[in-house]
Amino acid sequence: MTYDDQEYLQRYPDIDRVLVPSADVQRRVCEIGNEISRVYRDSRPIFVCILKGAYTFLADLTRCMSIDHEIDFMAVSSYGGGRQSSGVVRIVKDLRANITDRDVILVEDIIDSGLTISHLMEMLGTRNPRSIRVATLLDKIPARKKDVSLHYRGFEIPDEFVVGYGLDYNEKYRNLPFIGILKP
Ligand code: IMP
Ligand code: MG
Repeated sequence: MTYDDQEYLQRYPDIDRVLVPSADVQRRVCEIGNEISRVYRDSRPIFVCILKGAYTFLADLTRCMSIDHEIDFMAVSSYGGGRQSSGVVRIVKDLRANITDRDVILVEDIIDSGLTISHLMEMLGTRNPRSIRVATLLDKIPARKKDVSLHYRGFEIPDEFVVGYGLDYNEKYRNLPFIGILKP
């Protein structure tokens, strides 16, 4: 799918600039989909989409998959409405699937402090999956507080607040096809 980033920029004047154009996002997401398809060709992995931010990534990623897979959803709340981490991770919606002996791929929009994903990996690890790996679209390395190993990563980004492609600010901008930076 192709999008006209300029048209979105005109409609959303609060966006300061595009950090990752939609064409780059689309290309990179499919590269990751191809790689996961190769690595998991003898498995039937289950993608666990961390709501809400990862929904766009999950949708595009799975459309680039060439092997059988399943999807499920989980919702956690790690942030209040604003730009600051509360440091508190709460399970809002749990999985429906039983992940025991399954190969699990956690799908995240962004790893920031790393607190959310490490908490989740620890929690899901107690359910005895065969493996757990993480696929994140964005990696904000300078903001890391907790070390996490990321197996599939779209882009490294600087320590700036970004929106678009599923990521929000107060529930807005999730529909933008690119990763953008909000005006301060
Ligand atoms: P962490 O626990 O600090 O790694 O935070 C991860 C979650 O915080 C992500 O799944 C996002 O929902 C949210 N988040 C972190 N950085 C940003 C950002 O720059 N824009 C929008 N959401 C963000
Ligand atoms: Mg969020």
